[in-house]
Amino acid sequence: MIHTLAIALHVLSATLWVGGMFFAYQILRPVAASELEAPQRLRLWAAVFSRFFPWVWLFVLLLPASGYWLVFQLYGGMGGVGLSVHLMQGLGWVMILIYMHLFFAPFRRLKEAVITEQWQDAARQLNQIRQIVAVNLSLGLIVIAVATGGRLYPG
Ligand code: HEM
Repeated sequence: MIHTLAIALHVLSATLWVGGMFFAYQILRPVAASELEAPQRLRLWAAVFSRFFPWVWLFVLLLPASGYWLVFQLYGGMGGVGLSVHLMQGLGWVMILIYMHLFFAPFRRLKEAVITEQWQDAARQLNQIRQIVAVNLSLGLIVIAVATGGRLYPG
C-alpha cells in the first residue's frame, strides 16, 4: 500500500512538473509574446511563476523522497536498481539544482524588476528563465522516457 502511494506521488510529481513546463514553454509563451506588450507580459510571467513555483517546490521534495523510499524499501538499495533508475537519479538532481538556481537568481530578479518597473532588466531575466526552462523541460522529457522505457530492461 505504501509503495503504491510512493510511486503514485512520484509519477504525479513528475507529470505535473514536466507538464507545467511544457504548457508554459510551448503554449503560453508564444501566445503571451504575440498578444501582450512588454509590461503586461512581464507582469503576467511574474504572476504565473509565483503561482507555479510553490507547486514545483512540493514536486522537487516529493520526487527524491518517494524515489529513495522505493529504492531502499522496495529494491533494497542502489545495488538493486537498474541503469534507468541510476540515470533518473543523476538527471533528476541536475533538474532540481537547475530549478533552485532559476528560483533564487533570475526569478527573484524578475520579481524585483517588475515591482520597480525596470522593464529592460525584467525582459533580460525572463529570457534567462526561458533558456533554463528549455533545458529543464528537455531533461524532464528525457528522464520520463528513460524511467518508463527502462522498465523493459530491468538489468
Ligand atoms: C531524484 C531522484 C529520483 C529517484 C531516486 C527516483 C527513483 C525512482 C524509482 C526507484 C522508480 C521505480 C522504478 C521501477 O519500479 O521500475 C521511479 C519511477 C519513475 N520515476 Fe523516478 N526517481 C527520481 C527522480 C525522478 C524525476 C526527476 C522524474 C521526472 C521528472 C522521475 C520520473 C519517474 C517516472 C515517470 C517513473 C515511473 C516509471 C514506470 O513505472 O514506468 N523520477 N523513480
